[in-house]
Amino acid sequence: MERLQKVIAHAGIASRRKAEDMITSGKVKVNGKMITELGTRVTPSDVIEVEGIKIERENKVYFLLYKPTGVISAVSDDKNRKVVTDFLPYVDERIYPVGRLDYDTSGLLLLTNDGEFANLLTHPKYEVHKTYIARVKGLVSRESLRILEKGVKLEDGMTAPAKAKVVSADKAKNKTIVELTIHEGRNRQVRRMFDAIGHPVQKLKRERYAFLHLGGLNTGDSRELTPHEVKQLRALAESGTK
Ligand code: URA
Repeated sequence: MERLQKVIAHAGIASRRKAEDMITSGKVKVNGKMITELGTRVTPSDVIEVEGIKIERENKVYFLLYKPTGVISAVSDDKNRKVVTDFLPYVDERIYPVGRLDYDTSGLLLLTNDGEFANLLTHPKYEVHKTYIARVKGLVSRESLRILEKGVKLEDGMTAPAKAKVVSADKAKNKTIVELTIHEGRNRQVRRMFDAIGHPVQKLKRERYAFLHLGGLNTGDSRELTPHEVKQLRALAESGTK
């Protein structure tokens, strides 16, 4: 049993506050009967109408995708480029990505139709840690790693403390592979952090998202999260544990 205003909000029709207004102003029917009481609880089989339109109630589903490069983190694209949901054609529910990876970035991306879960994981206050493997131009010094870890000044402010280590360095090819773990999710943050220390990113992959990793997946593969993983992610975000 769920509260009526919560079900309406989850269906993406209105915020919970707005849904409450809709209920009290007589715009909502449950099984054909107008309901104006805010405490009303409904079951998954109850038919809910908002302003005469029946709302769709989907099961909540959660997936992990190994996003390839050259794909937009969206459900549609006006330029007809590939989008992440093209890689999960077997999913009937209307899923969308939790946050985003750049067009040129590959790696672990979550997709769900659970708006509350997506908001929780991307909320700046709760953001979970994410680990990226970056191939960058030049040989990265210890001093530069320390700057990445302490905080880099970007145009939208200092970055929060991070963890950085060199995986390998190739003097002849003048490039370094760096593992960087951050728990913020600003736009193009990893690329901008490396730009700020003078080592532009040539290749970027998200290897881990909280305790999830790409495991045995190949690029373009996806899998459903287990109920336990979903529970753990929610608990992690809610506890504010980074
Ligand atoms: N940081 C970036 O710069 N790009 C991404 O896709 C993710 C994090």
